Amino acid sequence: MRVDIKEKLYSGKPALRDIRVNFPRGKATLIIGTSGAGKSTLIKCMIGTTSYEGTVTEYNREEIAYIPQHPALNVRETAQEAIYWSALFSRLYSKDALAAEVDRYIHTMGLQSVRDNEIRRLSGGQQQRVSIAKELIRGKNIIIADEIDTGLDCGVSRDLVSKLCSITRKENKTTIIISHNIVNIELYDRVVVLVKSSSKCGGIAYAGSPKQIRSFFEVDDYVDILTRVNAADEGGRGEADYFIRKFASYRERQGKK
Ligand SMILES: Nc1ncnc2c1ncn2[C@@H]1O[C@H](COP(=O)(O)OP(=O)(O)OP(=O)(O)O)[C@@H](O)[C@H]1O
Ligand SMILES: [Mg+2]
Repeated sequence: MRVDIKEKLYSGKPALRDIRVNFPRGKATLIIGTSGAGKSTLIKCMIGTTSYEGTVTEYNREEIAYIPQHPALNVRETAQEAIYWSALFSRLYSKDALAAEVDRYIHTMGLQSVRDNEIRRLSGGQQQRVSIAKELIRGKNIIIADEIDTGLDCGVSRDLVSKLCSITRKENKTTIIISHNIVNIELYDRVVVLVKSSSKCGGIAYAGSPKQIRSFFEVDDYVDILTRVNAADEGGRGEADYFIRKFASYRERQGKK
């Protein structure tokens, strides 16, 4: 999926500018960055629920599974029923194959011990896993998830992200996850850092492998990436503009190689 957003305006004011990113198949990408930088807005442009100037190409709309932070689940269904109905409505499976597929996704998402529990009795992390299983079983190839691991403990969040990353690689999907949990950064194949410029517009400060990211931001600790780019009134060092420029010239040099 290739994104080339020249500009996204909200009430005449730019919210995103010059967002050029490729989200490759078989790779899981983390989108991280300053609160209010435009991460959710970028996703809305990609799934086509808001207007913008530019293009999003190399995908089919029907391929996209969008997982919001607070999924709308029927809380009186059991975990297994929710996944079963999603599979049935997808019409992808024959009557005979259905039960085995539901079983496979329950195992993939580690829901065996709670499969017969009503969703209202599941923890936040378990509910998230049900909602991911519901999307995966529909056979979608592009998974876009906005803050699915917010509010989960570090262990649960790491487990959820590892599961999604391994499914992505094994099944050649395109996965894009917005998250504030930078501690999981090494699990992903690619990272996009979205920051808010001094003119309050979202821009890209980095897009590439997590391996080079610390040297790009000149930090030892991943957490300090956000410290450097966040504005002073957010407790940061206010260097977003510097890194937007640095990334633009880094990309230009890469393009010339
Ligand atoms: N519907 C809207 N109308 C006007 N402005 C909006 C709208 N939605 C978002 N914005 C503004 O656009 C900017 C980006 O918002 P967005 O929700 O995309 O940020 P975000 O990076 O997802 O932040 P967070 O990490 O807090 O979720 C913010 O300044 C926000 O106030
Ligand atoms: Mg958001």
